[in-house]
Amino acid sequence: MSTEYLLSNHDILTVENISKNADKISFLNKAHIFCYDTVDSTNEQGKRLAQKGAVHGTLITAEEQTGGKGRLGRSWHVQKSAGLLFSLILRPQITLQEASRYSLIAAIAVCEGIADAVDLQPMIKWPNDVLLNGKKICGILAEMIPQTDGIDFLVIGIGVNVHQKKEDFSPEMQTKAASLTMFTTKPLQRAVILQAILSKMDVYLQQYQQEGFAPIKEKWLSHCAALGENVSVLSKNTVLQQGKFIGIDDEGALLLESKNGAVTRFVSGEVSLRRPSEQYF
Ligand code: BTN
Repeated sequence: MSTEYLLSNHDILTVENISKNADKISFLNKAHIFCYDTVDSTNEQGKRLAQKGAVHGTLITAEEQTGGKGRLGRSWHVQKSAGLLFSLILRPQITLQEASRYSLIAAIAVCEGIADAVDLQPMIKWPNDVLLNGKKICGILAEMIPQTDGIDFLVIGIGVNVHQKKEDFSPEMQTKAASLTMFTTKPLQRAVILQAILSKMDVYLQQYQQEGFAPIKEKWLSHCAALGENVSVLSKNTVLQQGKFIGIDDEGALLLESKNGAVTRFVSGEVSLRRPSEQYF
């Protein structure tokens, strides 16, 4: 049985609520914010709008998705209004190899935005899940249409679990996922959390433009869980390799050092990471 989330007016994702006092966010423009009640997927809608010429910084939000998409071909289902579901269209002039860096920037922004808005300290699980107490509270799905000389646009889709109660997750998911409300007694307003995340996106997009990837990588590593630990790399629940998680390279690929010192790189679209003893992490 699904829970009805009765919202205060402040919690509803409207253009007004999102753009209120958000002048500091350089890419955000009221005219380019699209708030849907129901949509198939904010990423799909983002791609449709981008193909029709939507500008850099276009924001798409939804109270509910009928075909929400996760990484590795999974679905992403959230009860209506329980999650913060949004996609941001970016049009950077970059190569295909550089595109993964934008997911890393998004993960940093989610961690720091949540810390600012809610006073909780999430961590990143490679490649870009965001966790609290070892449970996933946010997923990020970046999509793009490759061109011969780079990309036309990027759609960064972010789903933060905000209001879900434990019983809103299936028994299997309860061991792996949680929502912000499970970790705080403060009232949560999704538009406020969204603004905080977008502010941080703005900071790190500008830093990347001005200073390159090195400081972004450092920042990402500072929020990263399990760095320096022994981990397993899995493909479809099968362990491919175990070793020490020593960092990421300039394309965001995971670097795993085996006992003999050899380093293998794993690309995020193909595999996931586990601590050997844990179910999700
Ligand atoms: C993951 O598998 O961890 C990524 C989940 C990404 C979910 C978000 S919700 C908003 C946006 N629209 C989608 O269809 N997916 C992303």
